[in-house]
Amino acid sequence: MKKFHRLAFYAVISLSAGAAVSSLLSRGSSAAPQQKGPAAAAPQSQAERGKYLVEDVAMCQECHTPRDSSGNLDRSRWLQGAPIWIMPVHATSNWAMRAPGLAGFQGFTDEQGEMVLEKGVDPNGLAIQPPMHIYHMNHADAQAIIAYLRSLPSAYPNQ
Ligand code: HEC
Repeated sequence: MKKFHRLAFYAVISLSAGAAVSSLLSRGSSAAPQQKGPAAAAPQSQAERGKYLVEDVAMCQECHTPRDSSGNLDRSRWLQGAPIWIMPVHATSNWAMRAPGLAGFQGFTDEQGEMVLEKGVDPNGLAIQPPMHIYHMNHADAQAIIAYLRSLPSAYPNQ
């Protein structure tokens, strides 16, 4: 019986984790994941939630943080822009060779950031180039991510 309870607990945890990911990545979902599941008990600031979404859910750092000579992400230049090291499977003319710096989020208004994260449209009204994803985040998730990015030190603004 005890075992069963523990199993049920794990099921709840993994279900709510799954819901968080699909809520982030699905088009037009309205409920923010922080309102569901056991994690709801601990109050979280918007920037803290954005950090979690950036680092653990969407993993923006994989492209936007430079790497050291061993290929590890360089914590001292977190989200400060990096060359793109992945190549397209099929040749494409609009593949971006660099992911710009996000730390500090200088050079973007909140509205521009929201357009990027909610609609996949850049500040010039053009579609974002691959391999950057075309995200359809909900508004609360986009706002949380922007709050987190603004909280980071920006050594090299908008590179
Ligand atoms: C697979 C690699 C990759 C991942 C993961 C990624 N990006 Fe990007 N991002 C890029 C590339 C490449 C560009 C440049 C695209 C372009 O020039 O149109 C870019 C551009 C951007 C831009 C600038 C858009 C513009 O045209 O001004 C923003 C803002 C951005 N990314 C935010 C994010 C955030 C926030 C995340 C995580 C939620 C993220 N990116 C995840 C590769 C990535």
